[in-house]
Amino acid sequence: MNITVQTGQLGATESDAIVVNLFQGTTNPTGATGSINQPLGGAISRLIATGDFTGRPNQTAVLYPLPDHDIKAPRVILVGLGKRDDFTLDKARQASATAARRARDLGVKRLATIVHGAGTGSVDPTRAAQALAEGAILGLYRFDELKSRAASSTSGEDDDSKKEIQELIVVELDESKLPDLEAGVHRGRLLAESQTFARSLVNRPGNILPPVALAEATQKMADQIGLQFEALDPNQMERLGMGALLGVAAGSDQPARFIILEHNPEGSENQKPVVLCGKGITFDTGGISIKPNEGMWQMKDDMGGGAAVIGALRALALLGSKQRTIGLVPAVENMPSGKAIRPGDVLRAMDGQTIEVISTDAEGRLVLADALAYGQRYEPQAMLDVATLTGGVITALGHGAAGVMANDPNVVERLKRAADATGEKVWELPLWDDEYKRAIRSDIADMKNTGGGRAASAIAGGMLLKQFAKKVPWAHLDIAGMAWTDADTPYKPKGATGYGVRLLAEYASGYAG
Ligand code: BES
Ligand code: ZN
Ligand code: ZN
Repeated sequence: MNITVQTGQLGATESDAIVVNLFQGTTNPTGATGSINQPLGGAISRLIATGDFTGRPNQTAVLYPLPDHDIKAPRVILVGLGKRDDFTLDKARQASATAARRARDLGVKRLATIVHGAGTGSVDPTRAAQALAEGAILGLYRFDELKSRAASSTSGEDDDSKKEIQELIVVELDESKLPDLEAGVHRGRLLAESQTFARSLVNRPGNILPPVALAEATQKMADQIGLQFEALDPNQMERLGMGALLGVAAGSDQPARFIILEHNPEGSENQKPVVLCGKGITFDTGGISIKPNEGMWQMKDDMGGGAAVIGALRALALLGSKQRTIGLVPAVENMPSGKAIRPGDVLRAMDGQTIEVISTDAEGRLVLADALAYGQRYEPQAMLDVATLTGGVITALGHGAAGVMANDPNVVERLKRAADATGEKVWELPLWDDEYKRAIRSDIADMKNTGGGRAASAIAGGMLLKQFAKKVPWAHLDIAGMAWTDADTPYKPKGATGYGVRLLAEYASGYAG
């Protein structure tokens, strides 16, 4: 989809449909909506007066101008923004997605729209344009690369899978705003496309995207955009002493890869980098501590943290971020077999610390232990890890926020600020040594990989990772509830969400200058 920005009257724009919006409680539409209401003979006012349209968030209505209505498009799509006082950039993202999806359903190819919220004075026009582009791209995303034939050939219904919006035209009356809107659209496009890139990595099942394929897809992307890429093979990991990662890899016939992405902007040679580590379990059966069958298929999303890191590095490189940033993704398949590690085994991580494996299903912290240990060589100014680590975080926070655990309040503060900007929510859980270190105390090794019980299992995961962050300001994001959705909300269609891409990019670029 092409996105262009132009000045002019929305009603005079050649397109298959135009989008206008309405705040809840508005009785007399003004601005762009008013300027369309008038030639429509007050049709929007009547929609409001009858109570048929209230303007609640993501409500839509479609109106059909007559030839003498002086509106170039054959359709007007009206989208609700909710109450004016509750308006946020996330509402703009949602409205944009809702309108774009409605337009696509109607078979629209050229869609013209105003920038939602740009006229409110409460949000910055550049940010509003960014949210518009993000909402449209994220909302229209479909994962169809594994479908060999169109849905209609079996159902006989409209072939919706062929419908596609080719052009989104952003229309603004005030010419002086154009550079800002263009900058926002550009930023939004790069971020959202990096997020959809991550979504597609996560949506690919374990047979199609084992560790080697994940590394290859990452390399292809990195080569295209000029990002530095390297992938270590098992021999190289062996020489580095990555015994925790290799322990998890032992049960699988799929060779592991340790993916390293480096964004080294010009002049950043002496800059201490931000290091982002992402859990890259391409499929998690649980290993010898095997998971029950029900819902196991969804464990193809267990590289959601890794995909978020890869997507964030893509975005930072394309945006030309001034911040030196490193992405580390231990890519491993967790399988049971005669070569697999057993409960009770003790593994030695790269930094020499030993871990007693109580459950082979708590494998994410094992591969991330080696990633965090490897990250130390960069002497980072901050380090994050992002992982679909525990079912426990879903018990605590559901699908509303990622759990954040940290050894440094400043890192948490920065993450919260980034989350406010991107709409990807985080909520802090504690990592008090006095209360929780006992959860990982082992009788025979430096630590054990699970506390055994269900109590505070998300925190037990964080406590283990904390031992590998050492003195580096660090936070762990448990995104188990966020990487996947069954809900189908405006800019998060069912499936992989790509959670974390925009959050990590926003967070890392916050360290620049
Ligand atoms: N990948 C899972 C966590 C998970 C669960 C992600 C549900 C997404 C949805 C992880 O490797 C795991 O199995 N964790 C265990 C840890 C336990 C053995 C301490 C869990 O949460 O049950
Ligand atoms: Zn597991
Ligand atoms: Zn896992």
